[in-house]
Amino acid sequence: MCGIVGFIGKDNGVEFLIDGLNSLEYRGYDSCGIAGIVDEKTKVIKTVGRIKNLEELTSEDLVFNIGIGHTRWATHGGVNKTNSHPHQSFNERFTLVHNGVIENFSELKEEFLSDKKMISETDTEVVVQLIEVFAREGLSTKEAFLKTISKLHGSYALCLIDREDADTLYVAKNKSPLLIGLGQNCNYVGSDALAMIKYTNKFLEINDGELVTVKADSVLIEDKNGVKIERSPFTPNIKYGEIDKGVYEHYMIKEINEQAFAMRNIISEYFDGHDVKMDQEIIDAVKEADRLYVIGCGTSYNAGQMSKEYFEKWAGIPTELHLASEFAYNLPLLSKKPMFIFLSQSGETADLRAVLTKLREVNPTYKVLVLTNVDASTLSRESDYTLLLHAGVEIAVASTKAYTSQIAVLSILAYQVAKELGKAPNLDLEKELSVVTTAIESILDDTKEIKELTDKLFTERNAFYIGRGADYYSSCEAALKLKEVSYIQTEGFAGGELKHGTIALIEDNIPVVALITKSEFDLSTRSNVSEVASRGAKTLVITLEKLAKEGDYAIPNVHETLAPIVSIVVTQLFAYYAALGRGLDVDKPRNLAKSVTVE
Ligand code: AGP
Ligand code: GLU
Repeated sequence: MCGIVGFIGKDNGVEFLIDGLNSLEYRGYDSCGIAGIVDEKTKVIKTVGRIKNLEELTSEDLVFNIGIGHTRWATHGGVNKTNSHPHQSFNERFTLVHNGVIENFSELKEEFLSDKKMISETDTEVVVQLIEVFAREGLSTKEAFLKTISKLHGSYALCLIDREDADTLYVAKNKSPLLIGLGQNCNYVGSDALAMIKYTNKFLEINDGELVTVKADSVLIEDKNGVKIERSPFTPNIKYGEIDKGVYEHYMIKEINEQAFAMRNIISEYFDGHDVKMDQEIIDAVKEADRLYVIGCGTSYNAGQMSKEYFEKWAGIPTELHLASEFAYNLPLLSKKPMFIFLSQSGETADLRAVLTKLREVNPTYKVLVLTNVDASTLSRESDYTLLLHAGVEIAVASTKAYTSQIAVLSILAYQVAKELGKAPNLDLEKELSVVTTAIESILDDTKEIKELTDKLFTERNAFYIGRGADYYSSCEAALKLKEVSYIQTEGFAGGELKHGTIALIEDNIPVVALITKSEFDLSTRSNVSEVASRGAKTLVITLEKLAKEGDYAIPNVHETLAPIVSIVVTQLFAYYAALGRGLDVDKPRNLAKSVTVE
């Protein structure tokens, strides 16, 4: 959600600040701005809307040797230029960018700033005004920053500049992501490595509660007591080229197309030709559990639903699914030996981080495994174990390749656990995943029919996906995909449940798409299709070739347990073409952010 960049160095940082913000665009935002120190004055440029508006306001001869930048996703105060960041203290000495939410901003305002009229409506402004208050009391900038931070409750990634010291960026974080990038004669700050990867591949992590003083030729990390912390840089597994759209018009279609490639990566990362190649500690931790708690949000939650198919049916381990935003505040009764599996493409989702904090409070010995696409992401660093998705960078807000990769990695873990528990599932998973890969390729080879079906089907304001068992889980994801990019109100329903209420919504021309990838549900789901068709719905069945009837969309035959990885691709394409047909911003749907770093 939103993003921060910072630069300090001998050369001009303006290009980096704008490039960095462009690379963070995918996270979602509504306004943006940059600031830097020029001749002992701070110049602030900000605007509502896209970064290209900001570029237009930035003159070509602007030079910042120190600067900060921000994309805002408003949480406190409307979307307007005054509320957009950077924010300045009353005397304009301090200028700050902030991602996150300061929960106690009203209390702080009351306590320290009651006699002042704030410039903006944001929670952020309180932070920069407090720094000025403490600096006026005689504290150095670092001390004033530290004192301010000690009073904040909530989530924040902060980057501060001081007009009176053009050599230093002050950086701190709590819960919100932030990294330092190490350059030659310069250093960078960014919300993620993608913001900086064009400029450096060496990064330093920042932990919550640390204070980082960044200069052109040094980075000092200290804890809250001023004790210096030594930390080695890391190089993430991404390359600059990966974040290019290449020949594709949108990231979403690029990423849909990359799914076969992601499957191949997963096969080569997790199989050695004969056996599963996976950290034995992870397999043992799952084997020892008497119950699995699989937790995620949105698409990751939907992928998690599929884990029941594998862990319960193959390995016989009871598996519960939970939405992270519910779990943290409404803890279910836990079993004696629970194991927690978090699913998060980004590894930064605040709702999941809240679950982690809660679990650590309840019992610090509980083991947490995270399946994430982002190496060294916050959740990966803070959990006990990580399994990477190896899907390559996912930029489009609508998650596609991470979803199919999550299901594939879950299946491999469950398969190995089942084998070691002596319950060998009756399939050669490596071979079957290769068949899945080829099936995905064959769908993507020719999408003309899918595009035509989209134009025919999704003409109304509403739509339904139905299915049973794993196809019901897929229906939930197919519905989420369609609604988030095309704004068609779509629901995913268990086929048999429709007649218990929702069928009342079916009228002429409402599209109902049924997913049938299991022979055992063929007849029952087709009856549900007839029920809605006889009430005027436009229907389509997506099914395996071997079950297909005239008028169905047939996907190549694959092992039935893995078929949801293939059928979902058709529905991702429906969503993409429906959004395209409506002229919408496919990669950045309204109100959404790629990584949701506020609760
Ligand atoms: C995906 O299409 C969504 N935009 C969203 O539901 C997403 O899956 C959710 O926010 C979870 O993100 P994560 O996987 O990065 O934790
Ligand atoms: N809470 C701040 C605001 O509303 C920061 C939002 C963000 O993270 O972009 O301005």
